[in-house]
Amino acid sequence: MRMVDLIEKKRDGQELTTEEIKFIINGYTDGSIPDYQVSALTMAIFFQGMTEKERADLTMAMVESGDQIDLSQIEGIKVDKHSTGGVGDTTTLVLGPLVAALGVPVAKMSGRGLGHTGGTIDKLEAVKGFHVEIENEEFIELVNKNKIAVIGQSGNLTPADKKLYALRDVTATVNSIPLIAGSIMSKKIAAGADAIVLDVKTGAGAFMKTIDDSRELAKAMVSIGNNVGRRTMAVISDMSQPLGFAIGNALEVKEAIDTLKGEGPEDLTELCLTLGSHMVYLAEKASSLAEARTMLENVIKDGSALEKFKVFLSSQGGDASIVDDPSKMPQAQFTFELEAKEDGYVSEIVADEVGTAAMILGAGRATKESVIDLAVGLVLRRKIGDQVKKGESLVTIYSNFEDVKEVKEKLYENIIVSSEKVEAPILIHEEIT
Ligand code: URA
Ligand code: CA
Repeated sequence: MRMVDLIEKKRDGQELTTEEIKFIINGYTDGSIPDYQVSALTMAIFFQGMTEKERADLTMAMVESGDQIDLSQIEGIKVDKHSTGGVGDTTTLVLGPLVAALGVPVAKMSGRGLGHTGGTIDKLEAVKGFHVEIENEEFIELVNKNKIAVIGQSGNLTPADKKLYALRDVTATVNSIPLIAGSIMSKKIAAGADAIVLDVKTGAGAFMKTIDDSRELAKAMVSIGNNVGRRTMAVISDMSQPLGFAIGNALEVKEAIDTLKGEGPEDLTELCLTLGSHMVYLAEKASSLAEARTMLENVIKDGSALEKFKVFLSSQGGDASIVDDPSKMPQAQFTFELEAKEDGYVSEIVADEVGTAAMILGAGRATKESVIDLAVGLVLRRKIGDQVKKGESLVTIYSNFEDVKEVKEKLYENIIVSSEKVEAPILIHEEIT
């Protein structure tokens, strides 16, 4: 097989075979196929697309390029949730204990990464003592015992995706639906999930800005999952404004606690109940989505979801007393209110820009070397559609700097108050199975 022939084949719109795709991915991973040939191929894919079969083959070739996590020692159907990424998205922290309280095994592999706030692991480090550096064996034991544990990312998961993603980044081929879908799905499958619930975000704060693009990505991922034997479904949810109120690490842990108590923000609660219902249903713990939802509401009401969160934290060395007293988590030195400059209705909260404001405070990493300040961030006091009077707070700023002029300016530019009444955006756009 010669790479040049395969590039030509794809360039001319023909379908690559399973063997050909394996040859490409293996050769790229071991270095025998150079970057310049793979970049020509990804550009051909960008224009010609990939068939359903090619997408499944690409995904599995990437899965097989590195380690695959074996979760077979964990009892039950392992359902993983993946979000395509948004601002202030606290769902993982809520969903883990919530579905685990119903006996759904949550074997979560999580990372740090760049962004407006830290990843799930960073957020959990706001809990003193909590750590994810555990051996595989302990991880599996914990999931069997408590139904929930989190472990740090294995170093050699989907190396082909790592190389390919970096190459796409500098060859203008990130934005190809088959390549994005394969990239995301390969990581979930390598991490050992039997079934996958996808939360595809749409709107200003999301990777996919329009509903049409989000739907196309969701369908592509659902079809890959189902084609390779993992039951997969997707929810398309709104990210035109940040999710919930809190954007920051300790602040989001507190928001997750509130939500597990049944006192969380309406949108975060609703999204968790929607995604959670699908997880419980796919794990075969309920015979319908409606039944799953009732079960989830019950474990919030009777306190067992919150109790599960405590057990999860203390099992991995964390101080679970923060659940009853969140002020034991890192606290910012200063708070400031962003006061509305006029009466009206909040019409826009540009999610990614507001996320960047939180990052400027230190809540997230701008580069891999940045150090996160777990205490700082933002708490929205108004969401889109809410009424506000001049002088009332739009946002509380939690900072360890006394000077937050730049942050305030950014927030004023990106939180728009209009004189006309505005409807709150739709939270759940579509469900794709
Ligand atoms: N996220 C990923 O993991 N991969 C992509 O290709 C795009 C977004
Ligand atoms: Ca939030």
